[in-house]
Amino acid sequence: MKGIILAGGTGTRLLPCTAIASKQLLPVYDRPMIFYPLNTLVKAGIKDILIIVSPEHAGNYLNLLGSLLERDGINVSFKVQRSPRGLADAYLLAEDFLDGEPSTMILGDNIFQDDFSEAITSFEKGGRVFAVKVPDPERFGVVEFHPETQNVISIEEKPSSPKSDYAIPGIYIFDGRATEIAKGLKPSSRGELEIVDIHKAYLEQNALDVRILEGAWFDTGTHDSLLEASVFAREAKLGDAFAPILNEAILEHNKEIKRHVALKQ
Ligand code: G1P
Repeated sequence: MKGIILAGGTGTRLLPCTAIASKQLLPVYDRPMIFYPLNTLVKAGIKDILIIVSPEHAGNYLNLLGSLLERDGINVSFKVQRSPRGLADAYLLAEDFLDGEPSTMILGDNIFQDDFSEAITSFEKGGRVFAVKVPDPERFGVVEFHPETQNVISIEEKPSSPKSDYAIPGIYIFDGRATEIAKGLKPSSRGELEIVDIHKAYLEQNALDVRILEGAWFDTGTHDSLLEASVFAREAKLGDAFAPILNEAILEHNKEIKRHVALKQ
């Protein structure tokens, strides 16, 4: 199982903050946002992680994460996305990295309370995505369940009249077919390669597993949701539940930076 974190995009709803920093490097309480998805992958034992970044911020990601987990045998690599073409584009950009292997992709701006380790390590084939009850499903990919069998009936991207209150958050576990499926996609009416079209392809093959999430979930794309995520991360002590190797690596990295600062003085 390989890991992908999508940290591209322009973050226009978070201007002016995103005029000087990548959205996924903005702080969520006491650490840059990108550490949260990184933690989810590290906790699940994933050793190969690709971070997809935009060209203007690539250097910052390299500085922060380039050699952070080297000692622990975790290989973090980077891929530049020249222009955002939709979430499914990640599977095209990651084709060589994936090399036909299954992957867990997390959107760099999604913060979760749940631990996905079991869902990731028990994955065998097909696709596995999640559903969360939300008050504003029209902002997300929406999944509709059959009222009795609980089978998935439909999946739609940002429908104006949602058929359910269940949003599909930004964590996707797919087998090695995801890249081939992405290659066959046509851009949607908003000009994007839609991730829900990959979900639908698996659904048509009867190979999509949708699990309900219980914990809190934040899509930190706006100033308000970013603040809410920070407050939640502090109250729920999300950082304390991080994989110990990641917390140790962060402390070590901080020490190294402090040493360099001291040397300069
Ligand atoms: C994307 C996906 C959507 C998903 C959401 C989760 O939307 O297209 O299906 O529900 O992420 O954050 P975006 O936030 O890029 O508009």
